[in-house]
Amino acid sequence: MRDASDIVRIIGEHLQLRPKGREFVCLCPFHDDHKPSMNVVPQKQIFHCFSCGAGGDVFTFVQRFHKMEFREALEYLAERGGIELKKRANADLATEGEVPIASPRAAMLRACRSAQDFFLNVLRRPDLGQRARAVIESRGLTPDTVERFGIGASPDRWDGLLLTLESRDIDLDPYVSAGLLKRRENGSGLYDAFRNRLMFPIHDQIGRVIAFGARKIDEADEPKYLNSPESGLFDKSSTLYGLHLASRSIQHERVAIITEGYMDAIACHQGGFPNAVATLGTALTRKHASILKRLCDRIVLLFDSDEAGQRAADRAVEIFLGELLEVRVATLAPFTAAKDPDELLKMPGGAETFKRVIDGSVDLIEFRFSRLRARLAGAGIAQLDRAVRDELARLADLGMDRLDPIRRQLIIRRLAEVTGLDARTIGQAIPAGRAARPQTDSGDAPPDLSVAQQIAHVSLGPTEALLGCLLAEPRLWTVMRDEDRELLRTSAYRWPVIASIALALLHDADLGDQPSIGSILASTADSAAHAAAISLQQRIERETSHDAEKLRAQLDACLLSARRDQARASLVTHEDLAARLEANRRARAEHGDDMRILPRGS
Ligand code: UTP
Ligand code: MN
Repeated sequence: MRDASDIVRIIGEHLQLRPKGREFVCLCPFHDDHKPSMNVVPQKQIFHCFSCGAGGDVFTFVQRFHKMEFREALEYLAERGGIELKKRANADLATEGEVPIASPRAAMLRACRSAQDFFLNVLRRPDLGQRARAVIESRGLTPDTVERFGIGASPDRWDGLLLTLESRDIDLDPYVSAGLLKRRENGSGLYDAFRNRLMFPIHDQIGRVIAFGARKIDEADEPKYLNSPESGLFDKSSTLYGLHLASRSIQHERVAIITEGYMDAIACHQGGFPNAVATLGTALTRKHASILKRLCDRIVLLFDSDEAGQRAADRAVEIFLGELLEVRVATLAPFTAAKDPDELLKMPGGAETFKRVIDGSVDLIEFRFSRLRARLAGAGIAQLDRAVRDELARLADLGMDRLDPIRRQLIIRRLAEVTGLDARTIGQAIPAGRAARPQTDSGDAPPDLSVAQQIAHVSLGPTEALLGCLLAEPRLWTVMRDEDRELLRTSAYRWPVIASIALALLHDADLGDQPSIGSILASTADSAAHAAAISLQQRIERETSHDAEKLRAQLDACLLSARRDQARASLVTHEDLAARLEANRRARAEHGDDMRILPRGS
């Protein structure tokens, strides 16, 4: 029989539950939730989200949360113990028949686990593991750390793992799918993907090995880190290194520290900061954010250098502004000469300095504004006006109108300080949020076909048509200058759904991906957005008769008239704002401020 607290205990390991009467509430992990809409009902052993409709029992929860198959969920819950599985298990197994069906995923998981055993063994072998152990020692990793993180080694040959598996007559396919073995170019035979490297297993949130990060041992080898390829098991953009070890502490502290490297996260744990995780050599994504938002209220992005921090922080603003997470940015540079947290934490007194670095972190918005201030130093009235408007438009598009009033007020006040304008003026100049960000897991609203239909017929504005051209031929993104992207970002589209399409495309473009209609279809489940994007693309294709040259001409024409529109719009300034800017300029002139014109966006 199930203990009445089972579902509360299991869900509580994944989400922050708050008691509410005889039930519990939390942020729903199955849609982009901004107020706690999920209820957990111990009496009935169910959960239910009032906003997106997700619901079910503890099995449904575990399956959906971890994207597990039923059988995996079963094993997972059985491992945790205390749960009687028989009734539900029998019911479902009966339909599957007696013979357990091994799915490709399950086979890959097993492959990773056995490879992990292999790498651990290699590290322990006196001969084979010697150089790896020397590296571990020179990097100051304690035996306890090595064990907790499951660090191993791959042998210095092309067939170590391969021969071991062959000698046991094991099916090699799952090892190939999981990226542990590779096929030779000429198609004949396999070889080890990892050779002579320190092996860092990468775990999912519940501690199963799903991939490896492998650091070179021989300084002459390249690259420094070699990582498993993405697979059905391993998605970099939703995995955080060390999360299975950190999640308890993250929940307890309500803060997560995010570092740039594996070794940095490990060093943090060893140095007394077990709430640290690392991204896997990629930028932080919205998926990372939504995982963390379930566990804590604040994250500290810890960057090695100011420069890297600034680039990453700019991207982070886009991801985090509308989230219910306080995001702070910390950089080592002002506090220490150490190049990364790993180096710092190994220095005498490193932990204290590290603490200062974390305590000295600044709010993400603050961080962004201090850059804006640097850019505005000595700017003329036109630049100032433009910069403030750009920033406001940007913030509005990023979801400022969805922020709680206090945070919103703080942002406005900060912007006022930075620009020397008063907060009321700025508040009034905020454009209404033109676009809700595309949601990743939105409920199934009926498609708003009317917008798609309108797009097919009414005359389009230049930026709207421009978007259509880019949807029709993604390679045309290469002709878009930064200012043109900015145009797309800040343009006043007639339909919010078009604005959200623009933002989704820009988001991919900013990440260096080539945005296409595929990104829209993949990034949102919103059927109105799908319909609108397709309609817009089709229309432009029709108008340019599917001809590449005509399309290019159309794009150039759109760009030209969009730029012209913008130039005109910036002349018609908000009277109040203009007056205050003028007053501000005079004040500056009186104080002898340097009025040289700075290039934008430097
Ligand atoms: P770093 O070059 O800062 O490495 O890369 P590190 O973590 O300080 O490693 P050590 O101290 O030299 O051993 C940071 C992260 O970028 C990714 C890895 O995730 C690494 O942890 N990376 C780096 C790669 O994926 N491939 C590389 O070749 C280099
Ligand atoms: Mn390092």
